[in-house]
Amino acid sequence: MYVLENVPLPAYSTMRVGGNARYLADIANAHEISDAVAFAEEKQVPILMIGSGSNVIWRDEGFEGLVLVNKIPGFDISSFDDSASYVTIGAGEDWDSVVERTVSAGLSGIEQLSLIPGTAGATPVQNVGAYGQEISNVLMTLQAYDLHEKTLVTMTASDCEFGYRTSRFKTSDRDRFLITSISLILSKRPPIPPFYHAVDQYLKKNDISEHSATNIRKAVIDIRKSKLPDPASVNNAGSFFKNPYIVRSKLTQLRADYPDIAYWDVDEYNVKLSAAWLIEQAGFKSAQDDETGMATWPTQPLVLVNQHAKTTAQVLAFRDKIAGAVQEKFSVELEQEPELLP
Ligand code: EPU
Repeated sequence: MYVLENVPLPAYSTMRVGGNARYLADIANAHEISDAVAFAEEKQVPILMIGSGSNVIWRDEGFEGLVLVNKIPGFDISSFDDSASYVTIGAGEDWDSVVERTVSAGLSGIEQLSLIPGTAGATPVQNVGAYGQEISNVLMTLQAYDLHEKTLVTMTASDCEFGYRTSRFKTSDRDRFLITSISLILSKRPPIPPFYHAVDQYLKKNDISEHSATNIRKAVIDIRKSKLPDPASVNNAGSFFKNPYIVRSKLTQLRADYPDIAYWDVDEYNVKLSAAWLIEQAGFKSAQDDETGMATWPTQPLVLVNQHAKTTAQVLAFRDKIAGAVQEKFSVELEQEPELLP
């Protein structure tokens, strides 16, 4: 393990802001974590692990500790039975390349999670989801280093306390586990409709009747490319807010004033509102904010883009303008989705 000192963190976040890390090191295998823990103990600093930084925002103060950049490789498919296979993936693998390899192997279950930026090990943290698929639906187990017990542990999906864009790794056990690998169970059968409206529409428009994982992956890639910025060239962290859940009585009130409010049913008691719709109605469609150097992405206002903001304070000031306007107009609270670190 090679430790760098005083490393500027903007290079380790696709929003490209933040202060310095006191120490930073790449981790190439699970055993190196013990060395990192010993190093951090000697220096008496905390440890924090990241993947490729596509869903994290660093504070301007930086991080007075040791940042570990997960580069743990691994991709292994083993047949479970006639209908399913296990796939075990090193946490440092690029997520979209993982999706591509599973689709090429004729497996389905994560094809709608195509083109999502980041590493495999980061997917359980926010329970990554798109077009109706979530990592929690296919995750069997994961391996993690437990900083409390100082040992590698195996967890099942139910241990992870998954919810919509959340898990114990983001909440109650935020600084405790460093994920080293994940194991998924994927189907040898093609994806089963119904698909989300956007995917369905794409298939109809392009006359695609065969619902193979390959075709669905291609559809999702095209849809995402048409709506979302590429974090390699545009500074952003994906959806900046979660779609807010509200109780049905609140929806009834809102619909009296806004009959075309966009929402989806969750269960008997709750609905999920479209954060993108709320943001547009609050006046932030294609917004460019000179004061902060931030903007909303023209085809998806849920994505905040750093055009020339230099500090996290500017990013958060733009966040607060949007959340404030939505609160003012609809009395609905928008919750930030990317993690503010540390
Ligand atoms: N839709 C539903 N149910 C839902 C949400 C969306 O049916 O609960 C439908 C919409 O009708 C639309 C399609 O899904 O046809 C896609 O919706 P849109 O592109 O407007 O996406 P969004 O709801 O604004 C969410 C995720 C995105 C994800 C897209 C696609 C959150 C915070 N964002 O956005 O995730 O790519 O759906 O499924 O949940 C991210 O987390 O960084 C991210 C980009």
